[in-house]
Amino acid sequence: MSEAPYISVNDLVFRYPDGTLALDKINLKIYDGDLMALIGQNGSGKTTLSKCLNGLLKPTEGSIIVDGLDTRHTSITSMAKRVGYVFQNPDHQLFNSSVWSEVAYGPRNIQLPPEEIKERVQEALDVVRMPSRYYEEHPFFLPKGLRQRVAIASILALRPKAIIVDEPTTGQDIKQSREIMEFLVDLHEQQGHIIIIITHDMPIVARYARRVVAMGQGHILADGPTAEVFAQPEALAKTFVEPPQITQLAQRCADLGFSPRTLTVEEMMEQTRQILNK
Ligand SMILES: Nc1ncnc2c1ncn2[C@@H]1O[C@H](COP(=O)(O)OP(=O)(O)OP(=O)(O)O)[C@@H](O)[C@H]1O
Ligand SMILES: [Mg+2]
Repeated sequence: MSEAPYISVNDLVFRYPDGTLALDKINLKIYDGDLMALIGQNGSGKTTLSKCLNGLLKPTEGSIIVDGLDTRHTSITSMAKRVGYVFQNPDHQLFNSSVWSEVAYGPRNIQLPPEEIKERVQEALDVVRMPSRYYEEHPFFLPKGLRQRVAIASILALRPKAIIVDEPTTGQDIKQSREIMEFLVDLHEQQGHIIIIITHDMPIVARYARRVVAMGQGHILADGPTAEVFAQPEALAKTFVEPPQITQLAQRCADLGFSPRTLTVEEMMEQTRQILNK
């Protein structure tokens, strides 16, 4: 892509106050149109990078430019309208006494008119497919999957261009995971949001992400189209990530004519049909 990136990360170093070096000279460009997965072993720096992207953490060295603004000199509120970050643990983000007021909190905070607040809250709750019977419930009494949706809706209500969701599918079954991924993909395709998903679930990455950035020990080890990154098992091994099993199987069956870039069972079946019909 040749257009200007929406987010540009330049030689970013981030060190926590206790001295831990979490990010070491990161360079990354994120474009309008990206539907990206951020992967890597525990402690590789995914959450730290996300918090830097929306200005919650400021660079120790280097810079991050979002929509032309340097995160070091931009208010958290201004950043929140551009990059939304849904916490790894939704409970770190929920503090209102009802689902509706939780989602309305951000729009109220930026002092939007009541009609617009109502419209945005309704839209956000619709996007995450929250049944209306829960609107007046206390978020803490909902199951984790629904709390996650409230957390996502509360970010959506600010309508940020880029949305980072930190491990949205952890602890959820396949059906719930796919439902979450499907509304994130809808947001991307229908409303043009940049979506960044942090996950350890490689079949989910293979099915939904168009681009993969793999991190290890505060560095970026691989960055490219999903099939291309999964075709580099050596780079992934450094961060103890394995391509999805179906991709590994296809790679071992390359002699039979399977593509090492196979991502899903459906693609594998299609190739099987073609190979057997030869
Ligand atoms: N508040 C903190 N203070 C000091 N060090 C921290 C803090 N938060 C994270 N770290 C350290 O920074 C590094 C990167 O952590 P980070 O949470 O960004 O990794 P992650 O890739 O999100 O991991 P996970 O997959 O477990 O969520 C790790 O070494 C971690 O121990
Ligand atoms: Mg994390």
